[in-house]
This record gives sequence, structure tokens and C-alpha cells, in this order.
Amino acid sequence: MDKTTLQSTLESYFTWFHRHPELGFEEHKTTARIRELLVQAGVEILDAPLETGLIARIQGRPGGPVTALRADIDALPVTEAAGLDYASEHPGCMHACGHDFHLTALLGAAILLREEAETLAGTVKLLFQPAEEGAGGARVVLDTGYLDDVDEIYGLHVMAALAPGIIALSPGATYATVGSFRILVKGRGGHAAEPHRCKDPIVAAAQIITKAQTIISRGVSPFDPAVLSVTRVLAGTTWNVIPSDTLLEGTIRAFSVEKLTGIAENLGKICRGAEESDGVEIEYTWRINTYSTNNDPALTEWAAETAKTLGLSVVPYPPTMGGEDFALYQQRIPGVFLNIGVGSPQELHNPGFIANPAPLSAAAELLAALGKGAAARLARNSRPPWRNFHAG
Ligand code: NI
Repeated sequence: MDKTTLQSTLESYFTWFHRHPELGFEEHKTTARIRELLVQAGVEILDAPLETGLIARIQGRPGGPVTALRADIDALPVTEAAGLDYASEHPGCMHACGHDFHLTALLGAAILLREEAETLAGTVKLLFQPAEEGAGGARVVLDTGYLDDVDEIYGLHVMAALAPGIIALSPGATYATVGSFRILVKGRGGHAAEPHRCKDPIVAAAQIITKAQTIISRGVSPFDPAVLSVTRVLAGTTWNVIPSDTLLEGTIRAFSVEKLTGIAENLGKICRGAEESDGVEIEYTWRINTYSTNNDPALTEWAAETAKTLGLSVVPYPPTMGGEDFALYQQRIPGVFLNIGVGSPQELHNPGFIANPAPLSAAAELLAALGKGAAARLARNSRPPWRNFHAG
């Protein structure tokens, strides 16, 4: 398929997916449409036990290396306000993180790879992953075992502020380790006129919120990025009753598990201090939701060269405190997560986010080149020494 036809085909796919966003693990229409378009392109769909999302395969030389290309397919509970003539038709739901762009680009790669199957040195698996937005989609996909034979994996994410079609990537950790916490402050409720007979959970919670902001500002080097945000406070029912409890939730982010753990433990100490000083009882729990991405340095360099060969501009990717569950694949499989500019007037997750569809065909070509090129490189038995390094 020539580039002009590919671009117009992908734009028509893209506007359909943008109109029909679905939340994590609810991507039934999205999956059905992906399936239909893959079948139309003559692409084999594997029988992976996934409720939503799917894994397809382009089979080249049998017994050759296996590479994987991943796109996420879920949307966000955001009410769209971008003024597009192909706006979301699902109220309260929007492709505000560009996953419609990712999955369309991967469909484009599927079309291109299908055409080139005879010259493919191995197998390329095409992963349309459900539920990237915090619901654990990558874990569900890994648990199917359908990626167990994959030698290298590549994925792409749109970057709002970058000009359309520019590629951004850097080695190492570019997305943060993401943790979440929950603090239930249990006091003793009563009449607002008699606080001395109560154990006020709101005042205790307020102290925790304020004190928590000193963990990073006073305790972590300014050269070592970390974030702690309290994002949810629930307490009380009316103005003259001191409630019995207050719930706090929030997130902690850092680039290493050790750093995040240290911050989470300090938050626990603050909770214990509040129990002591305010006479409340506190249930404190925290967990790690997503690990840092880990772009293999040698493969990152190779991916950048591959992009340049296609005439794309490549710039370094500035690390983000955002999370990305592509990291879970990278814990087992060497790979690279890269970004493509879509020149949006608003940031990701904003109701005014717009992914410019102009670089769709370029993104498709790049994904196809990565999948095919990696298979060729691996088949040439340049099984690179960094594989051992990664396994360690
Ligand atoms: Ni995203």
C-alpha cells in the first residue's frame, strides 16, 4: 500500500476509534473493530484468552526470532471538549491519551508487515493491549503466556507538546515507578460544639496532608525526582457533626522502587505520629502500581537509527513522572518505548487533547520497521551481548 493510501485509510480508521472510546476492560466494540480490520487485511489473529484486546501475528520464516509491537486501546473517563467533528459519541468517555492513535498506527503496521511477510526473518506479534490506564492490562496479557516466546518488544506513545511526526526516545527509565496509597483515619465523631469529647479525624488528616508534603521537599535531593500528591479527601456529611473517619488517597512517584518505598515508609511514620498525637487510629496501605520503563540502551540507539533511516527527526525524550505499564513487558523482554509528536494544543488527559492524525502513516512505518528490522537483526545471529546484561 502506498503512503498516501495508507495515510487516508488510517485516518478513516482513526476517526472511527476516536468516536467510540471505551474504558479499560470494556473495549468490546474497539476489539471487534480491530479484529474486523485485521481479518480484512489477511492478518492471523491468535486465540489468546483475552476478554478485550487481542494478539495477532505476522508469520515470516518459521522458527525465526519473535518480536512484538504493542499498542494500548483503552480510553479515559473524560468528557471531550476539543471541538472535533469526529468527537466522542460515548458521553463521559474520551480517547484523551491518544490510544486511538496508537492502535491505528499498529493496524497500519499490520497492513505493511502482511505485505512483506515473505521477506520477514521471523514472526512479529501485534499486541492490542486492553486497560493501560491503571487497570492492569499488561499483567493480564503477560499471564496468557502468549508473549513467552518474544525476543524483543517495541511500543509507541503520542507526545502532546511535540511537533507532529517528531520521534522522542531516551535510554533507561523514562516513565516513573508509580505507587498509590490509602489512609483511613478513624477518630470518634460527635457534636461539632464539643470537639473535646471527640477525636477529630479531619484535623488529624489535615496534619497528615501538610506533613506529607515535607517528605520530599525536606527529605529527598532536588536532583532526585519524586512526587507525592494527595488526590482524594473524603470526610463528613454536614456542618455541625464531627465525622468518625476521614479517607485520604494519593500517589507517590519516583524512578526507583527503593526511593518510592522510602517515601511510602516515611508517610507511614507520619501516620503513626498522628495516631500518637491526635488519638486517632489509622489504617495505612500502599502499593506499587507500575514500575519504571527501562529502555535497553543498545536497542534504543538502534531504534533511533531505524527512525532516522525512515527520514524521521529524533530528539531525546524528557523523563516524565507519568506511569506506563509497558514497563511490565520490559521486566521480562528487552525493548524500547518511544514517543511520537502529535502537536496537541492541550496536554494528555485534558478534555481538549487532540492527536493530529498526520503522522499516522509514519508511525505505522516506524513500528513495522522496528518489528521487521529487529527480527532480521536477531536472525543474523547478532544475538546481542546486552541480552545477558538485561537478564541480570
Ligand atoms: Ni497513554
